[in-house]
Amino acid sequence: MSNKKLSGEVYFPSEKIIEKAHIKDRDDLDNRAKKDYSGFWSEIANELHWFQKWDKVIDDSNKPFYRWFTGAKTNIVYNCLDVHTKTFRRNKLALIWEGENGESKTYSYFALHRETCKFSNILKSLGVQKGDRVTIYMGRTPEIVIAMLACARIGAVHSVVYGGFSVESLAERIEDSNSKVLIVSDGAYQRGKIVHLKQIADEALQRCGTVEHCLVIKRTGQEINMEQGRDMWYHELMNLPIATQNCALEIVDSEDPLFILYTSGTTGKPKAILHTHGGYMVGTYATLKYVFDIHEEDRYWCAADPGWITGHSYIVYAPLLNGTTSFLYEGAPNFPYPNRWWAMIEKYGINILYTAPTAIRGLMRFGESWVNRHDLSSLRLLGSVGEPINPEAWKWYHRVVGKEKCPIMDTWWQTETGMFMITPMPSVPLKPGSGTKPFPGIEMDIVDESGKSVKANEEGFLVIKTPWPAMIRTVYKDPERYISQYWSKYPGIYLTGDSARRDEDGYFWIIGRVDDVIKVSGYRLGTAEIESALVSHHSVAEAAAIGLPHELKGNAIYTYVILKSGIEKSPQLIEELRQHVSHEVGPIAKPEHIEFVDSLPKTRSGKIMRRVLKARALGQDPGNISTLEE
Ligand code: WT7
Repeated sequence: MSNKKLSGEVYFPSEKIIEKAHIKDRDDLDNRAKKDYSGFWSEIANELHWFQKWDKVIDDSNKPFYRWFTGAKTNIVYNCLDVHTKTFRRNKLALIWEGENGESKTYSYFALHRETCKFSNILKSLGVQKGDRVTIYMGRTPEIVIAMLACARIGAVHSVVYGGFSVESLAERIEDSNSKVLIVSDGAYQRGKIVHLKQIADEALQRCGTVEHCLVIKRTGQEINMEQGRDMWYHELMNLPIATQNCALEIVDSEDPLFILYTSGTTGKPKAILHTHGGYMVGTYATLKYVFDIHEEDRYWCAADPGWITGHSYIVYAPLLNGTTSFLYEGAPNFPYPNRWWAMIEKYGINILYTAPTAIRGLMRFGESWVNRHDLSSLRLLGSVGEPINPEAWKWYHRVVGKEKCPIMDTWWQTETGMFMITPMPSVPLKPGSGTKPFPGIEMDIVDESGKSVKANEEGFLVIKTPWPAMIRTVYKDPERYISQYWSKYPGIYLTGDSARRDEDGYFWIIGRVDDVIKVSGYRLGTAEIESALVSHHSVAEAAAIGLPHELKGNAIYTYVILKSGIEKSPQLIEELRQHVSHEVGPIAKPEHIEFVDSLPKTRSGKIMRRVLKARALGQDPGNISTLEE
């Protein structure tokens, strides 16, 4: 590590942390990786099992459609489960789960392999084949992990829809992916109430016609509709003699699709980000190992939802690839009391906690005494993801939760990157609010409109200049959109959609999205989805949505609505519209604020100038408005 003095407020890791760390000198590893990028990744890939090795590590013959480990044969599930069942890890816990009502379940690697195989056999018997898409819409129970792995094992492509999404979001994702099978739970517990997932799914299935089989996991046990011929109970299927505990694994090509995951973009419908078996496996495995410094005895907890990329990569795949014990919980941080998380850390002896700034800010509000009632001495490392962490929350997390001995891994990445891109490692000096530098070997930059690197401390567009193994391969069914969205502003360079600056020490500081994506409590939502939900209400003519700073959520959704002529403005209508968005998109998209207006600022070509709305709401100067229509 260089001995150069770092500017600003710096937190140095303790000797104890460095001593234990897999990577003791990140800069050295970075230099090595930059010298021989393919060699660096192939060395890591060699720690995993392949049925056949690759001809090429990176194939860039058809940019920007990069391919990784071409010619290799693998299946990520083999490395997640099967390899461990052949070692002492067969008896190690792969998954520990706690439900909101306090019940707890554990799965050894042997058991998780068994349950996955059983479910794979069920899927096969229903005709699911390699390449088929399967939609999963569930709460946070072990079955969501089993369902994902069971699909991947037979080469089917899972498409998980977060349980916080609602009717229209689910319907359009099922339809777009052309899923013939839907896996759903009857309901999910959330703060003592039941979220009626099956009921939402029933409504969604009325709007799309692709699903032939709907498999229902019993969680809450309330009365639900079971449609004859279409709906089947998971527990009944799993008890059938065909659900044997061994299921031949589909050996797939490194570049065969593993999953699609929908995420909000700048315009129109959410896009399906496609990830593949080989590169995604290597990228997520390496980043978790080095950044959260996984050791055999660890119990690791990523408190996200499996329905988001954070959960896909760092609750399900990377922890299992590393043979660690992953913790999953159902419920909320502050129910029944604001000590739920701290009680679980103590009860299960969690060593690593990875969460989002919004959760930290939320828990901070309840005060230190809730944390201090529990023995958190098992914690060694902390993590943050999803949005910039404000230094105040960082310091609270560091001092109150980590007792000043746990470094905080502030990891910047995206659904599209699949893996951590800007991130510290435990041995790296930290600055609160900065994710430090890119992962070894990866070149990132901050550039101006013309693509030129900006000077230190100047704001610009965050871009990625090298391909990386877990990178998005395409937008499913829409390769044009893949190119136009990510690779067209600066040809050959990946555009992240974020703005950032880099300080004099080369540390990156993320500022936020520069497109029409809003980060609400770390959730990614598009203005277009919220607007189209509003416009789908019979009384709305036009709508615009923007994100405004919010103390707890990071951003809150503000909307401006033009009513159809003759419709009366009223507070009841505002509430009705908020409920409508919640019902169509999901509770996470419910606008904080709805204002009725008579016109919206638009360009001459009719595009809403959200920037102008934002400036007005914040009482700021809207800047250049020469393109404004009126
Ligand atoms: C966007 C991607 C990938 C994990 C969850 C989000 C923002 C993510 C950080 C961070 C500042 C962050 C960016 C990015 N973001 N992590 N550590 N610091 N901002 O995935 O839903 O695809 O959102 O989240 O704006 O572009 P996502």
